[in-house]
Amino acid sequence: MAFGRAVFGKTENRKSPDVHLVSSSATKADQSDKSDDLFYELKEELRRSLIEIVDAQHLQEIDVQQARQEIARLAREILVRRSEPVPGAMVNRIVDSLVDDVVGFGPLEPLLARDDITDIMVNGPRNVFIEVGGKVARSEIRFKDSEHLLNVCQRIVSMVGRRVDESSPICDARLLDGSRVNVIAPPLALDGAVLTIRKFKKDKLTLADLVNFRSITPSGAELLRIISKSRCNLIVSGGTGSGKTTLLNCLTGFIEHSERIVTCEDAAELQLQQQHVVRLETRPANLEGEGEIVMRDLVKNCLRMRPDRIVVGEVRGGEAFDLLQAMNTGHDGSMGTVHANSPREALRRIETMVVGAGFSLPAANIREMIAGSIDVVVQTARLRDGRRVISAITEVVGMEEDTIVTQDLLRFEIDGEDQNGSIIGRHAGTGIGVPKFSSRASYFNETDALATALADINSVAADQSKSS
Ligand SMILES: Nc1ncnc2c1ncn2[C@@H]1O[C@H](COP(=O)(O)OP(=O)(O)OP(=O)(O)O)[C@@H](O)[C@H]1O
Ligand SMILES: [Mg+2]
Repeated sequence: MAFGRAVFGKTENRKSPDVHLVSSSATKADQSDKSDDLFYELKEELRRSLIEIVDAQHLQEIDVQQARQEIARLAREILVRRSEPVPGAMVNRIVDSLVDDVVGFGPLEPLLARDDITDIMVNGPRNVFIEVGGKVARSEIRFKDSEHLLNVCQRIVSMVGRRVDESSPICDARLLDGSRVNVIAPPLALDGAVLTIRKFKKDKLTLADLVNFRSITPSGAELLRIISKSRCNLIVSGGTGSGKTTLLNCLTGFIEHSERIVTCEDAAELQLQQQHVVRLETRPANLEGEGEIVMRDLVKNCLRMRPDRIVVGEVRGGEAFDLLQAMNTGHDGSMGTVHANSPREALRRIETMVVGAGFSLPAANIREMIAGSIDVVVQTARLRDGRRVISAITEVVGMEEDTIVTQDLLRFEIDGEDQNGSIIGRHAGTGIGVPKFSSRASYFNETDALATALADINSVAADQSKSS
């Protein structure tokens, strides 16, 4: 049937599935198991009847919304004619679920339609978790069985011309709406296929939003604006889902419209507002295992494309070397993200990536290259209460013997926790009034703005015993 014709972000007024926290009672689960049995029985019966009467060719030809309506109409007719009537509320549930299976992504559809969900994590057919407002909770959504889940996974990855099965059990894909998907199937995943979806946020957060969410103070945001405007080479470092890409996207907002920007990403997530932007995306190998284009290929190639700035979505391997070279050779203001838990760790990881790419340079030379290329590391963090913060703005000052020297200009310090479990903390300054990049800032007429921002940041003093 019309597989692969999924629709996303539908505005249907369907009730969102209830979400409960991880600790649900066993009795409740037992009850829902029984009603689930009846539900799946009826749905299967309906599916069989539909196969006999639906014209699959016709469904392929009409638009997805029309196909949904048509299947829903036929399904209702079948259920109404049934000798043993089906309760009204269940009719709607069965019809919705069947339509989602036929023209969408089955039980995932209502979750995909919700804008408040940032991540969907499916651990086998019966354990679906979602992240809402920074908190992970278990969803009531379930798949009939492992096969049902694997079918939905197949349909998702087939949209990008890939397949997932025992012989190729790991696959990355992207939904039509830009959401990032990873599937790992049995036998590697022991309890059924595992599907992870990072939902694409249509309305990207701005730096002003980050200030509203208390992820950064207004003067901290101003410091970031000046850093970006002054064409500092910058790395955003942070853990998984800590807000790296979001922050990178915000910072690109300060790039001049006259500059030629080339972005390199694994899955295009950045949304640059400038006119002169070239977007490049890596490509996985095809079914025959050929044609893979990795990040390093893209970064190397974009150096031949006369970029003013290079933006790398995530630096993970040998491309670190090419990005450092670009930063060193006139592509000031280039940016990238690195997966690390502190600015110092980010610098260490970059060093390891360069070594891992097969460059047999002495460690001191690699570090010199790093210190000479990267001006600032901005650290993002997801706190245990779900809030995301910018936890440090750290400047790379230079080398002392063979060690890279850094200094924090701002850092987030945790003072405690309130009675609701929310973290109490503050963005504090370290007393530095004239950072190393201040000569750059003055070249870009930002001297006064920098002095004002730092004075405000330093009005909240950091604990000098801590450092990044
Ligand atoms: N400061 C913030 N406050 C609230 N939500 C945020 C903040 N920053 C990012 N988010 C949201 O958190 C989710 C993850 O953000 P993002 O994709 O930027 O993280 P990431 O660190 O790049 O993740 P990954 O490691 O998977 O690439 C997104 O839905 C985003 O909208
Ligand atoms: Mg990211």
